[in-house]
Amino acid sequence: MQPSDVAGLNAHFAVPEHISFMDGPGGLAVADIKNGYATARVVLQGGQVAGYEPKGAEPVLFVSGAAIYAAGKAIRGGIPVCWPWFGPHPTDATKPQHGFARSMLWSVDGTRVIHGDATQLQLVLVDSEATRALWPYPFGLRLIVTVGSELLVVLVMQNRGPDAFTCGSALHSYFRVSDVANITVDGLDGRSYIDKLAGGEHKLQAGPVTISEETDRIYLDTAGVCVIEDSGCQRRIRITAGGSRSTVVWNPWQAGARRMADFGDEEYTSMVCVETANASPDVVTVPGGGEHTLSTRINVEL
Ligand code: BG6
Repeated sequence: MQPSDVAGLNAHFAVPEHISFMDGPGGLAVADIKNGYATARVVLQGGQVAGYEPKGAEPVLFVSGAAIYAAGKAIRGGIPVCWPWFGPHPTDATKPQHGFARSMLWSVDGTRVIHGDATQLQLVLVDSEATRALWPYPFGLRLIVTVGSELLVVLVMQNRGPDAFTCGSALHSYFRVSDVANITVDGLDGRSYIDKLAGGEHKLQAGPVTISEETDRIYLDTAGVCVIEDSGCQRRIRITAGGSRSTVVWNPWQAGARRMADFGDEEYTSMVCVETANASPDVVTVPGGGEHTLSTRINVEL
């Protein structure tokens, strides 16, 4: 079965009342999840969660209305998986930004119902000629997406070779907010960050993060829980990171929005990225035969 053969996927992995597969926009295969708690979508290309709506609540994730759905291109929104490097490749600018995991086709490895009524989807991506042309190591990635009263995304990075490798990673989560001017991001007070818009200068965060201009920061040595307080839609999004030492906060603001073909000029007001990551000095070295697990747990509190 081809990884994107929707009929074959439904025959092997559909679970009635929980998960089915379909051809989505741009012909990209999508896992469509619906259960008593929520609805969600995962695009098999990139293993990208592209929507999560708890029952009766507003969408939690932002997906651009101008997103481009095409083979080999990450969708602008949801949760792209950045791996095995974060941002530009450290030494070769011709290699794809944020690595290759977000633009390659992942295979379905299993579906099941857990904890009574939550739905779990497991995807895998292993090294191939195409990945080895960009990065020489044998690896196995497993992405475990659990949709229930919360959204849990777990990325297991397995080193299948004898030599250690060092990798950057991010679950590059785009959150939908009422207005970026109405939010604070708590949990980063007192942390130092790399300000990518100030030539990589290190700065210290004092108090909650507020956003009133283009923002692109890698917070270092972060504690694991960030909360987006959204007074405009009176909700809190709690993001609990595991296996992560960095948190990236990004909003392109108007000028950055205009530079992106797949992002509406005014959409910067309704999103913020708070990314569970291991970036810059916080990259992780995985020994030969070893593994590292990165996770993000997303809860909405009304
Ligand atoms: C953020 C980076 O994580 O992703 C930004 O910190 C970058 O520098 C942004 O602009 C979007 O990246 P891309 O490759 O999806 O346009």
